Amino acid sequence: MFKVQVQDLGKVFGAYSPETVPALQDVNLSVVDGEFVTLVGASGCGKSTLLRILAGLETHTSGAVHCNGTPITGPGADRAMVFQHYSLYPWLTVMENIKFSRRLKFNREDLSSSDVEEASGRADALLDLIGLSKVADAYPNQLSGGMQQRVAIARALMGKPAMLLMDEPFGALDAQTREVMHDLILHIHRIEKTTIVFVTHDVDEAIYLGQRVVLMQPRPGRIHSVYPVPLPRERNQEMKHGTEFRALKAEILSRIRESSGMATDQDLLDKLSRTAAI
Ligand SMILES: Nc1ncnc2c1ncn2[C@@H]1O[C@H](COP(=O)(O)OP(=O)(O)O)[C@@H](O)[C@H]1O
Ligand SMILES: [Mg+2]
Repeated sequence: MFKVQVQDLGKVFGAYSPETVPALQDVNLSVVDGEFVTLVGASGCGKSTLLRILAGLETHTSGAVHCNGTPITGPGADRAMVFQHYSLYPWLTVMENIKFSRRLKFNREDLSSSDVEEASGRADALLDLIGLSKVADAYPNQLSGGMQQRVAIARALMGKPAMLLMDEPFGALDAQTREVMHDLILHIHRIEKTTIVFVTHDVDEAIYLGQRVVLMQPRPGRIHSVYPVPLPRERNQEMKHGTEFRALKAEILSRIRESSGMATDQDLLDKLSRTAAI
């Protein structure tokens, strides 16, 4: 069974320079097979850093992080990342973009015809899952932002990763498109049974998607609380107006307000006034 374990994790940027930034401190978290966990918190609280460490794109400076009992030391096919910017290849069609990651995994000479067939079948199924079968031959610049992000998600799923790591993937989309994407990613989670760790600074998004919401705090980045979401697994937009949803949202927002906003600006003002007389 797939499992990620983070123990007493710490990350200090610039450990060997005078300006060190403690990005993460004493982070403990485990994520089990098939879970949908959201990380929420003010800007700068270390969400992206934690996600990048899970992806193996960033090293940690203390503690440990394991995937199925093995230390994470770099990227792996079991963990795929989706970023805010769609990062598709503009010269490849939708279908070619989805198949691309698969191509990197093999030497092309090693591909048998059944490999090719299996990959085509998987790509077709994913295109169908994201509702873009009709535009398989279109190029990214012909698609809307939401459609491009669907393709990026399908591409990440192509190699059947056990875990999808998503860093504010819908942050650049308008509110209506974001709602559609929320229901799509929940559908994908049900069908593919991928474990998902999803970073956002939007509290509504964190609660609507997550089975657990991990609230992080800045300076230094750490986990403040972990909230189980008191909603059924099957979500619908109506639930956002319910009592449980609103109560959890109010609680999380007040915790975020305590630790950010003016306080963050004050730090910056202090720093600026020390370095340049403003
Ligand atoms: N490559 C880096 N070098 C130095 N500091 C960094 C680097 N990346 C992030 N940081 C700092 O680490 C802290 C956490 O950043 P990040 O993980 O991006 O937060 P979030 O995603 O929650 O906004 C911030 O203070 C940020 O400035
Ligand atoms: Mg970030």
